[in-house]
Amino acid sequence: MTVKISGTGSALPEKTVTNFDMAKLVDTSDEWIRERTGIAERRISTKDTVSTLAAKACQAALENAGASAEEVELIIVATCSPELLLPCCACQVQSIIDAPHAAAFDINAACSGFLFALNTAYAYMNTGLYKNALIVGSEVLSKLVDWSDRSTCVLFGDGAGAAYIQMVDDKDAQCENGRRSGIESIVQGSDGARGAALSCGERGVSNPFAVDSEQPSKYIHMDGQEVYKFATRQVPACISEALDKAGIGASDVDKFVLHQANVRIIESVAKRLKADISKFPMNLDRVGNMSSATIPVLLDELNRSGQLKRGDRLVLSGFGAGLTYGASVIVW
Ligand code: COA
Repeated sequence: MTVKISGTGSALPEKTVTNFDMAKLVDTSDEWIRERTGIAERRISTKDTVSTLAAKACQAALENAGASAEEVELIIVATCSPELLLPCCACQVQSIIDAPHAAAFDINAACSGFLFALNTAYAYMNTGLYKNALIVGSEVLSKLVDWSDRSTCVLFGDGAGAAYIQMVDDKDAQCENGRRSGIESIVQGSDGARGAALSCGERGVSNPFAVDSEQPSKYIHMDGQEVYKFATRQVPACISEALDKAGIGASDVDKFVLHQANVRIIESVAKRLKADISKFPMNLDRVGNMSSATIPVLLDELNRSGQLKRGDRLVLSGFGAGLTYGASVIVW
């Protein structure tokens, strides 16, 4: 038996906000943003929420897999920007798509969230608890950024991506090139001691007995250079570990589907792995950094445009607030 991605889906808000639009809000320029990040535009929600975007992405993933909501056993939504603290986004999605038989819960590992959700579902499925799962990354980061802080507001976008994964027999996973669809290795980790490098507050302690009523900032705060250093060191290290675990080298990988935060980070990872940059598909120029949604949205774009063939070997890798990081080697 093996766990295979059977379908993907994504949903983006309609409104496109270009770098030129950003330059009307803060002291920045298209040139600065493109040169430092590779981003040209992003999608910003005018009314979509994390749950409505997630539900649309799930419906598209189920349709792509030829599956129905009725048969879904597990829904995991990775998000750091839910519209409600209770109930969780996954339960809202369950209700919208009408998947009555699923267990549903959220996880928050920020930009590594989709990968952590995939790995969590994989672990559950390997115990025999579930035979399938909807794995989702969904974010409306636009409500968490300080729109007067040029060092962060230009980086992020809103959107959702989903994958439907299923436990299948080895013969159903057999690919024409001799490989078998499924997850070959997983590496994930966290460095909580460096968490202050990228943070966003919620409510602090607040009750009639509270002695310290200081409330944390509601906006994303980031030490960009610290995060940059972390990503350029940690991402190639964890990808190398995942490749070692799978018993393969970087040259055996067809595509590296990385978290889309910054083109310079992706180029640096490619260089450190001595892998051709053409193997690193990117869409961040059009959608910016959508945290947990970047990897599944990019996967869906590749899938729907026919750029993924069964038997292709992919590395998925993400990093983000926590600080968290992870990499998985999968055969499509
Ligand atoms: N437009 C114009 N100038 C800007 C700007 C913007 N949008 N944002 C920052 N600046 C300015 C700064 O104020 C600073 O000006 P100063 O020298 O007068 O003080 C100057 O540009 C350099 O700032 P710095 O923060 O050193 O820039 P940088 O080269 O580190 O680039 C990032 C900033 C954010 C692009 C870069 O650090 C980065 O990509 N980090 C990783 C962030 C990331 O990926 N986060 C998501 C993780 S999931």
